[in-house]
Amino acid sequence: MKRPFFLYTFLLLSFLTAVGLSVYYYHQTQLYDQRIVDAISSEEILPTYHFTLIGEEINHDYWRLVGEGAKETETKYDVFVEYEGPERSNPDEQLKLLDMAIKSKVDGIIVQALNENFTPLINMAVDQGIPVITIDTDSSQSMRNSYIGTDNYLAGQLAGKALVEDTNGKAVVGIITGRFDNQHHQERVQGFIDIVGEYEEIEIVAIEESNITRVDVEEKAYNVLTAHNTITAFYGTSSYTGIGIVAAAKSLKRHNDLYVITFDTIDENIQLLQNGYIDVIVEQKPYDMGYQSVDIMLDILHGKQVQNVYHTPASIIRMADLLSWKREMGRSL
Ligand code: BGC
Repeated sequence: MKRPFFLYTFLLLSFLTAVGLSVYYYHQTQLYDQRIVDAISSEEILPTYHFTLIGEEINHDYWRLVGEGAKETETKYDVFVEYEGPERSNPDEQLKLLDMAIKSKVDGIIVQALNENFTPLINMAVDQGIPVITIDTDSSQSMRNSYIGTDNYLAGQLAGKALVEDTNGKAVVGIITGRFDNQHHQERVQGFIDIVGEYEEIEIVAIEESNITRVDVEEKAYNVLTAHNTITAFYGTSSYTGIGIVAAAKSLKRHNDLYVITFDTIDENIQLLQNGYIDVIVEQKPYDMGYQSVDIMLDILHGKQVQNVYHTPASIIRMADLLSWKREMGRSL
């Protein structure tokens, strides 16, 4: 008797969720269209080109810099850059934003292509004559015009070399990556493994994914640390992994003897590096990625030949480099 009841309840809930999501995305599309109509009907003369940039998390410190770099080009070129992204990392929502940008017939799309689900939409945009540049994470199998961002395999190798140098080739390592199905995280892990794999006394005992949330990183790092109490080092492949690893290590009183590598020079990571809780940061150039993506897009629209790939630099920062790094970046000392 109970089965049909649960089945009907499940079907009803699925139906209501589907209706709710359709209404939500219909409403978002209407808002988007209205913004365009408002812009068109205002007195202002619109820029010649309208580009959409879609990142992983709109208010994330790393993505804000990508957005700022792209927006900065508005002062130089006749362009309007619409910077978009989900509030919290959510590949499905990112796909909807991509779909909306295609339907709005923007002049160019710059998108972080998180996984293979992005390929059909990227191909659809290009088929419809909208150039696409992938940023931060590539979709090399798609028809995208170009990729700009870190060489993620090389960045993983840099992290591996840093670990080898700093531990004299002897460590028990836990890895916390972003998502297993994200190409850039796969490459960052592979590059690392290919370097440390050459050293007999380096052992990787766990690889977990964080889903790009601080809470998950902390939980996964906590679990890994308790399951393998011989761990001496952690490698995190995205911006917040170092923060979560340090938090977990603190709660297990392991923060003073653990070697930690993370990505990105966001303020909290710099602070943790300065205080000795993080040992190495792999620095990327998010602002440059954003800025140059617009340059490349304009070249494409002006019929110029562009490269298949543009790599922005990645480098290693340790505590000893902090002073000169801060001077160079104009950050307070
Ligand atoms: C990655 C981005 C990601 C961010 C999230 C960065 O290291 O390059 O793809 O969105 O970390 O924390």
